[in-house]
Amino acid sequence: MVCVYLPGRDKCIDNSFNKMKKSHSLFSSGNLLGLELRNKIIRSGCFEGMSQGGDVTDKLIEHHREVAAGGAAMTTVAYCSVSFDGRAFENEIWMRKEIIPDLHKLTDTVHNEGAAASIQLGHCGYFASKKVIKKTPVGASRKFNLFRLSYCREMTKDDIEEKVEDFGRAAAMAKQAGFDAVEVHAGHGYLLSQFISPYTNHRNDKYGGSVENRMRFPVEIIKRIRKYVGNNFPILVKMNQYDGIKDGLQIKEAVEVAKYFEKAGADALIPSCGFTSKTPFYMLRGNVPIKEMVSNQNDIFMKAGLTLFGKFMVEEVPFDKLFLADGARRIKDAVSIPVIYIGGAVSLTDMENIIDEGFKFIQMGRATIRDPQFVNKLKNGEVTESDCDHCNRCVAAMDAGGVYCVTHKEEERLTPNPNDIKFSTN
Ligand SMILES: Cc1cc2nc3c(=O)[nH]c(=O)nc-3n(C[C@H](O)[C@H](O)[C@H](O)COP(=O)(O)O)c2cc1C
Repeated sequence: MVCVYLPGRDKCIDNSFNKMKKSHSLFSSGNLLGLELRNKIIRSGCFEGMSQGGDVTDKLIEHHREVAAGGAAMTTVAYCSVSFDGRAFENEIWMRKEIIPDLHKLTDTVHNEGAAASIQLGHCGYFASKKVIKKTPVGASRKFNLFRLSYCREMTKDDIEEKVEDFGRAAAMAKQAGFDAVEVHAGHGYLLSQFISPYTNHRNDKYGGSVENRMRFPVEIIKRIRKYVGNNFPILVKMNQYDGIKDGLQIKEAVEVAKYFEKAGADALIPSCGFTSKTPFYMLRGNVPIKEMVSNQNDIFMKAGLTLFGKFMVEEVPFDKLFLADGARRIKDAVSIPVIYIGGAVSLTDMENIIDEGFKFIQMGRATIRDPQFVNKLKNGEVTESDCDHCNRCVAAMDAGGVYCVTHKEEERLTPNPNDIKFSTN
């Protein structure tokens, strides 16, 4: 093997011409509306479960410091509700001025490790928990939520205006807290997705019916955010390619949805999939950890429901590498703004190919939960693929004190500490 040292690479690597060209692209810097990112890999929003009482904890800050130190170009603080009534769990942050100093601590910490920081802004809509928000959840249309065992009420025009303003103000506070970008959650069956999806939107007014009407609320939100954050602050949008439900959003309409987001002023799109209240493991693929979900469940009714009907309530979909590539390509070809690939990007070759195809960045979730140093290890040539086995027990862990790789912890327990090994002289 002939060794070459590429800019940004610390180790000797194989130097076939193709590999040089591609690796250089994945690990060279990229630009998002003037925001310079050190490489093309962004940690996706993976709910941390580390914000007890809705606060920014030291554990949350350390979690993102680790991801930043592990080489990601930008880390995304997951699901932050734009208002108190957009929460599904007690341990979800909602944006308010009192937490700006603590959020600033988080962004400073991430910046000190050389990465940028983004925050995912959303609202659960009909998936919000009545117990947590202490009132009836709101949604595009009145709908029963099996996971919450409650109905929501249909949003009025005043509610819509209030939420549009909540998104704008939340983004302004994020910018004030030192974030480099915001990511609007318009997928996974959350409030914006509930307006976009024909499965949840049955309105007869100008916010329901055609794609144009179903996009009106999300479009108003993007425009309001822009008004608050100005022209030079990146607005990313995580949207659905499809909901994974027969009557839900399909890829053909999602292409139109993408164009509306582009026209509204979004700076980048992240095409994901799935509907949390219906097909929660579509966006992940792999094993459904029912046993762990049951044991971490505090709500007695949900515990009983999951024990008895979990296998029917939560569909298992096998994991494939790059499982969202086909739809993501269709969206990329339909818009001129950058498209960020997400979903099963676990091998170096796949990631290089995705960037060479024209995706501007890659978002990565579980590979960095499995090993926060994964990006550095890829860059240094220590590994070429993540060894995450998609057991998805990290998803159950986030409800039991904070997300971590359960397999990794088990491996640590099985590996004896050399200091603990005692040699007998007999
Ligand atoms: C533990 C965990 C929590 C997640 N929480 C969120 C979330 O809060 N918001 C979101 O948009 N996606 C969430 N996701 C989905 C990921 O961002 C990503 O879309 C998905 O894991 C597919 O990417 P991957 O194959 O690289 O893991 C979560 C995923 C995991 C594993």
